[in-house]
Formats: sequence, C-alpha cells, structure tokens
Amino acid sequence: MSQAEFVVVANRLPVDRDGDGGWRRSPGGLVTALEPVMRGSEGAWVGWPGQADLEIEPFDFEGTHLVPVVLSADDVELYYEGFSNDTIWPLYHDVIAAPRYSREWWNAYVEVNRRFAEAAAAAAAEGATVWVQDYQLQLVPRFLREARPDLTIGYFHHIPFPAYGLFSQLPWRRQVLEGLLGADVIGFQRVADAGNFARAVRRQLRYETKASGIRVPREDGSVRIALAKAFPISIDAESYVELAQRPEIQARAKEIRAELGNPKKVLLGVDRLDYTKGIRHRIKAFGELLQDQRISVEDVTLVQVASPSRERVEAYVQLRDEIELAVGRINGDFDTTSHTAIRYLHQAYPREEMVALYLAADVMLVTALRDGMNLVAKEYVASRIDNRGVLVLSEFAGAADELGSALLINPHDIQGLKDAISRAIEMQPAEQGRRMRTLRRRVRDHDVEDWSREFLAALASIHTAKEGGS
Ligand code: G6P
Repeated sequence: MSQAEFVVVANRLPVDRDGDGGWRRSPGGLVTALEPVMRGSEGAWVGWPGQADLEIEPFDFEGTHLVPVVLSADDVELYYEGFSNDTIWPLYHDVIAAPRYSREWWNAYVEVNRRFAEAAAAAAAEGATVWVQDYQLQLVPRFLREARPDLTIGYFHHIPFPAYGLFSQLPWRRQVLEGLLGADVIGFQRVADAGNFARAVRRQLRYETKASGIRVPREDGSVRIALAKAFPISIDAESYVELAQRPEIQARAKEIRAELGNPKKVLLGVDRLDYTKGIRHRIKAFGELLQDQRISVEDVTLVQVASPSRERVEAYVQLRDEIELAVGRINGDFDTTSHTAIRYLHQAYPREEMVALYLAADVMLVTALRDGMNLVAKEYVASRIDNRGVLVLSEFAGAADELGSALLINPHDIQGLKDAISRAIEMQPAEQGRRMRTLRRRVRDHDVEDWSREFLAALASIHTAKEGGS
C-alpha cells in the first residue's frame, strides 16, 4: 500500500490472535477511539503482534493498515519485561515496587525504539501526522523527527509522569526527556503529570517553559515550541450504555447475583493483576470489616476480577502469591458452605460479561495506589444506566480529577477505606442517584472520541503554526 497520512505507533497492534489463527480487534478504548480517524484517513498502525519472534507481513484489517514490528525473545525480555515494565513502570508509579536499572535493558530499549521509529518513518507519507503511544516508546518521537523532519509528531503518555525527585533517579533521564521532546505535542492524563514533566525539562535540560509551551532549541540555533498538556483519556461511553440496555446482559447480571447466593450487597474490583492497583489494600479492608463483624458473608460478597498480566516479571509473580494467600486466608476464615467472602477470578472476560458484572455490583472499588487514569471507573459509571451503584475511587487515580462525586479515598488509610466501604454499602438510593447522575454526565460529555479529537486539534494547530513559519 502507499504511505499513510496518519500513523499510530504503539507497543501493541490493535488486534489479537483468535482461536483459528485469524485476527480480531483487541478490546481496548484506544482502538475504538482511533477507529474513525483511521478509517477516514486510510491510516496505518505500527506495533508488536504480542508474541516473540512472530514474523508477519503488513496486512489490512477493518480499514487500517497494520505494520507488525518483530520482537525477538531477547527483546521481549529486555525491552518489554525489563526496561518498560521493571524500570519505567515502577518508577513512574512512584516506586511502589523498586525499579531496576540495567544498562543491558536500556540498550535494548534504545534499539527497539529505533526499530519502531524506522517502521513508522517508512509507513508515513510526506508531511503525515504520527501519533506515538505510551511509555514503552518514549524515544520514538526524537528518532522519528531526526529521520523525518517533515512529519507532525504527537505523543500520549497513558501512565503517570512522576515528581522530579523520583524521575531524577533514572540514569538515562536526559535521553528520555529529549526523546519525548521530539514530539510537537506531548499529552498527559493529569495536569499534575504535565507539570512534573515541565519541571523535569527545566531542571535537567534548562529549557524555558511558559504555560504549556516548552522552548526546544534546534541544532541550527532556532527554537521550536513543543506543547506539554493534559488530555484526560476516556472510554467509548455510548457502547457501554448500549451493552447495559441489552436484556440478555441485564438477565446475566441477575444470574451472577443468584450464583453468588443473592447477597444483599455485591462489591466488585476489576483490575489487571498489578501492584499499582491496591488490590491488597482493598482485600485487607474487606477482611477487617468481616473480622469486626461490621459485615457478614451472607450479606456481602466481594468479587475480584484480576486479569493475568506481565506474568514473567518478578514483582508480578510475587504479587500474585501475596494476593492469593490473602484471599485464601479470608475465605478460609469466613466462608460458609453456601457463601463465599471473596470470589477471586484470575481471568479476563469479554466486554459483555464485564458490563453484566458492573450491573450486578452495588459498589465498585477502585483503590489504585497510583494510576494514570483508570478506565474501569469510567466503564462502571457509563454502564449504570439505572443511576444506581456507588463508586469508591482512589484519589491517586487520574479519574479522580474528573469524578469528584465518587467516594474519594486514600487507599493507604485502611481505616478510612473501611469507613468508605461501609458508607457505600449503606448509601440510600437517593444519594446514589444524585452522585451517579453527576458522574455519568461527565463520562458521557467527555468520551474517548472527544479525547482524540482534542489531542489531534492541538497537534493540527502546532502544524499550522509551523507552516506559518512561527
Ligand atoms: C497499561 C499501559 C498500556 C498497556 C496496558 C496493558 O494500560 O498504559 O500501554 O498496553 O497497560 O499492559 P501490557 O503490558 O499487557 O501491554
């Protein structure tokens, strides 16, 4: 195919292998958000197909040209599991787990980022727009700009950007900042993330910043302006409403409650099994409420969906053991033959089942210790077309900036968390309705299409300014 006017570069391609060796669209919101843009512009998507050493030719899928980047088993270990998920991920989530600094991992990260940039440069038409996604690819904007100064380059950071005192631990902090500054627009989830980034740039590179603009010197001595700003991501709210309206999904929600023994209240947690999500804190608070006899297993059940993630990284292996030990202990102490305290599901489910779970849950627990956004919170809210249910939301999740009508909690404060869970369990329908309506309005009025439109509009305005010679 000819080169594309619009190119997305992400660690993963937007497709997964189905059972028969074909491909199906991956669930995530990013894929849905970009679909209209991709279709409209005959876009291309550069990414890893998710398996080591899988060599496949570029192919077209539902209107998008997919360009696979091959990662060897070593690349997966050093670039993906190592530098991306055992250095950057813990460092950027406020060192909840200790980041490991390995020069070998860093070298692999540089090399793989270069490969993604080369693939993107080959896929992009003259003057095209390229949108790079997330922390696995922080060096791509700069490599791309060096290879193709004609391109307009955007970058969106889906996870937190840490305070300077933590970021400065990174032995390659300058290279990372310079990598990101290859972009014309650098988008973050929260205003605080954009502020942390601007501060790191001032401290490390001594570049001037003014409002959202950063003055980036070019080699020839001239200056260009890069924009670093918050663009909070969202979900395709309408598709959740549509699922929640389906009679078979509503019936499934009732069935789930019956399968749980029709407790008075169902609490729900839905997370990738990740140490940033505060799953242990949630389980501890729940176990103490049972211990204190403020709740009983006949009346209240916690359903915890923990989908498998990054299973070869040591911190994840350990976390799984800790959580399964804690769940086993609580269930052993409190279960009866007819009721279970925690229904723990180490599995991933299709969207239909997730919406049925959201509808079945009286209380949704989002207790992240640090989270870029947390789209589960928004999915729960969008699905509650009955304006019922209570969202308990960590103030350390990006979603807290927008969803102030949730019960906001500090997950480190176990006493406060227990009190919030009790309050959520006891909340009267009128208050649930008042809060849920406000939450739903926000999610409906700012969906993922608005997010991509606003980001791309900012990128287009920089492009216009460039053409105007400013
Ligand atoms: C987070 C990151 C994404 C990542 C996803 C799943 O949401 O921001 O970039 O794709 O987790 O993690 P995985 O390592 O399986 O891609």
